[in-house]
Amino acid sequence: MKVKIIAAFSIFMISYLFVPVGSYAGTEVSDIITMENKAYKSHDKGIVLFTHKKHIDEYKAGCGECHHDENNKPLNNLKIGDDVQNCIECHKEPEYIKGKAAKGLSKEDKRKYHANAIHDNCKECHRAFNKKKGFKSKDKGAAPTTCKSCHPKK
Ligand code: HEC
Ligand code: HEC
Ligand code: HEC
Ligand code: HEC
Repeated sequence: MKVKIIAAFSIFMISYLFVPVGSYAGTEVSDIITMENKAYKSHDKGIVLFTHKKHIDEYKAGCGECHHDENNKPLNNLKIGDDVQNCIECHKEPEYIKGKAAKGLSKEDKRKYHANAIHDNCKECHRAFNKKKGFKSKDKGAAPTTCKSCHPKK
C-alpha cells in the first residue's frame, strides 16, 4: 500500500517536472493576469494586476499589439485557446535595467530585459492613448504611465 502511494506520488512529481516552464498550455486565459513572473528572484515593486480581458474587450487592443513571434511579427490572428509564449522566453533577463547600468545600451539591447520589454509595450500604447485624448498622466481616465499607477504600493 505504502509503495503504491509512493509510486503514485513519484509519477505526480515527475509529471510536474516536465511541465514546460514559460509557455502556457493554451485554453486557460485568466481575465486578470497577476504579473509576478517566477523568473525574478524577488519583486521590488508591487505586483501589477493586468486586466487582459478588459484590454481586449473594452479597450479594443488586438492580440498582435502585445503578442508577436520570434521575428517581432505581430500575432494578429491569435485566438483564445492557442498556445502563447511568455514574454520571458525571448526577453530573457528577469530584471529592469536602467540608470548607469543601461548607459550606452540601445533600446533593443535593453529589451533583452523582461521588465524593459513589458514597460515599452504597455507604456507606449498608454502614452499614445493619453495623447490622443488630451489627458495628462494624472487626469482621471488616463491610461497609467507612472510607476505608482501600475505598481500598487507594497
Ligand atoms: C494589451 C496587451 C495584450 C493584448 C491585447 C493581448 N494580450 Fe495576451 N497576454 C498579454 C500579457 C502581458 C500576457 C502575460 C504573458 C507573460 O506573463 O509573459 C498575456 C498572456 C496571454 C495568454 C497566456 C494565458 C494566461 O492566462 O497567462 C494567452 C493564451 C493570451 N495572452 C492570448 C491572447 C489573445 C488570444 C489575445 C487577443 C484576443 C491577447 N492575448 C491579447 C498581453 C496581451
Ligand atoms: C518568440 C520570441 C518573443 C516573444 C515570446 C516576445 N517577444 Fe517581444 N520581441 C521579440 C523580438 C525578436 C523583438 C525585436 C527586437 C527588439 O526590438 O527588442 C521584440 C520586440 C519587442 C518590442 C519592441 C516592439 C517594436 O517593434 O518597437 C516590445 C515592446 C516587446 N517585444 C515586448 C514583448 C512583450 C510584452 C511580450 C509578451 C507579451 C513579448 N515581447 C514576447 C521576441 C519576442
Ligand atoms: C494597445 C494598447 C494598450 C497596451 C499595449 C496596453 N494597454 Fe493598458 N490600457 C490601455 C487603455 C486604452 C487603457 C485606458 C482605458 C480607459 O481608461 O478607458 C488602459 C488601462 C490600463 C490600466 C488601468 C485600468 C485597468 O484596466 O486596470 C492598467 C493597470 C493597464 N492598462 C495595464 C497595462 C499593462 C500592465 C500593459 C502591458 C502588459 C498594458 N496595459 C498594455 C491600452 C493598452
Ligand atoms: C503600464 C504599467 C507599468 C508602469 C507604468 C510601470 N511598470 Fe514596472 N512593471 C510592469 C509590469 C507588468 C512588470 C512585469 C512584472 C512581472 O511580470 O513579473 C513590471 C516590472 C517592473 C520591475 C521588475 C520587477 C520588480 O518588481 O522588481 C521593476 C523594477 C519595475 N517594473 C519598475 C518600474 C518603475 C520604476 C516604473 C516607473 C518609472 C514602472 N515600473 C512603471 C508594469 C508597469
